Amino acid sequence: MGSEEKLAQLSKFREEAKAGGGPKRVEAQHAKGKLTARERVNLLFDAGTFEEIDPFVTHRCTDFGMAERKYPGDSVVVGYGKINSRLALAFFQDFTVFGGSLSEAASQKICKVMDLAAKNGAPFVAVLDSGGARIQEGADSLKGYGEIFTRNTLYSGVIPQISVIVGPTAGGAVYSPAITDFVFMVKGLGQSYITGTEVVKAVTGEEVSLEELGGAVVNATKSGNCHFVYETEVECFQQVRRLLSFLPQSYKGKLPSVDSDDEPNRTDEELLHIIPVNPTQPYDMKKIITKVVDNGDFLEVHQRFARNFIVGFARLGGQSVGILAQQPMYLAGVLDIDASDKAARFVRFCDCFNIPLVTLVDVPGYMPGTDQEFRGIIRHGAKILFAYAEATVPKVSVIIRKAYGGAYIAMSSKSLRGDINYAWSTAEIAVMGPEGAVNIIYRDEIKKSANREETRQRLIQEYRDKFANPYVAAARGYIDDVIDPRETRPKLIKALQMLQNKEVSNPSKKHGNIPL
Ligand code: HXC
Repeated sequence: MGSEEKLAQLSKFREEAKAGGGPKRVEAQHAKGKLTARERVNLLFDAGTFEEIDPFVTHRCTDFGMAERKYPGDSVVVGYGKINSRLALAFFQDFTVFGGSLSEAASQKICKVMDLAAKNGAPFVAVLDSGGARIQEGADSLKGYGEIFTRNTLYSGVIPQISVIVGPTAGGAVYSPAITDFVFMVKGLGQSYITGTEVVKAVTGEEVSLEELGGAVVNATKSGNCHFVYETEVECFQQVRRLLSFLPQSYKGKLPSVDSDDEPNRTDEELLHIIPVNPTQPYDMKKIITKVVDNGDFLEVHQRFARNFIVGFARLGGQSVGILAQQPMYLAGVLDIDASDKAARFVRFCDCFNIPLVTLVDVPGYMPGTDQEFRGIIRHGAKILFAYAEATVPKVSVIIRKAYGGAYIAMSSKSLRGDINYAWSTAEIAVMGPEGAVNIIYRDEIKKSANREETRQRLIQEYRDKFANPYVAAARGYIDDVIDPRETRPKLIKALQMLQNKEVSNPSKKHGNIPL
């Protein structure tokens, strides 16, 4: 064969690899409202930058007539390219080949690019659309999953890992996304459950649809498995790119910083009018966040889960920061089990990748009651304390209104190694709210008084006047300064600049044991 014929052969093989499971299956994929693996490549990567590897890999199974059913590249497209002009690696399961199911060969392709991502310190994106383990291969496929889980685990904290679920993920296959840092799903396409509906019916008697059991909305709102939900694949991949724009390439990488046209010294009059006069009235904390950060650009993570707590990425003075805050609009911003899990995992992600933490506090306390106690609010609530105390990134906080009790300590306080702790002039820092405190410390006095309610209200007011302010804590240096709310942005940016060379280490150990 001459060199031209060899080139013709190469190009024929390439065309075969690109065809996936063939036109009929591609048509079926489109009919389900899904894009093909290669169409997804073009949405994730900068145009023309993707380099595919292993397009000629095939499975080695010979059982069940599989020797005659081989597709070059098998059920996954893997490779590298640029996202926002920076290196990233990814795999895209190809549902048109055996339903995207994981063969041993497919798992080896995936592990190869995961290893390349870790070795080269670049983010890794997994795009999932699969019927799970390749049934014809049995244990070989299961071993493949195990090898992927191991890499997800070992590379956790080394490089950012993102999962995008745009088809079924069933059975043990769900656990790779669960180990990664962020999970995206598309409504109506992405599904994630450990057993399908038939098994659920047989075991528990429940009758549910696949969407009710493990659709995008359920995973984003109820279980919290999913951090971002979008209506279309196009929007979803755009947002994956946006998320990556906030992140460094690896734990060793520099934080990406952009030239911000938003004036660092910008003050904002409206910050004086967001908090209601009545301290028990709610307000929207997101208004404060968007007024303070660069150009109001805030990428909220886990938007639909534990809505009493807000986490997300923004920039201050052009530099990425992780923002954490209570949301008084939901459950008065109380810390409950789900909020604790959400907050702690976000703190740890930011700490892994050297992203400074900015915490805005308005917290009435941890959620009381048997439901929370029995389900483990102590164990879950401890995660926030552990995560903040352990974190070595710059930690700046602003107490906006309430900061009571254990929840005050938990929210990046000075005693958890908070670097700069500010309080607005509206802040109230105390062991508990005035009502609760008065009922305990003046119980006898209230009982003995002729007009109990009047006495109680007088004592509440006295307590509020004396303790419900930031100056007692500021007098001790637990609060570094009491600030004018209008100056929040310049104060935060200056503090973060001061902290940019912060160096602090934790005691030598194998690893800590965060309460799980
Ligand atoms: C081999 C598979 C497959 C699988 C689907 N296919 N799943 N081949 N192994 N696991 C093939 C089908 O035979 C079909 O082949 C093609 O993919 C498309 O599948 P359809 O059923 O036609 O598609 P659809 O109607 O969209 O249904 C998708 C599905 C369904 C819901 C995912 O295929 C399904 O229920 N599959 C099995 C899911 C499952 O139980 N997997 C094992 C889970 S346990 P043709 O040739 O007709 O195109 C598991 C353990 C992992 O994964 C443990 C890890 C630790």
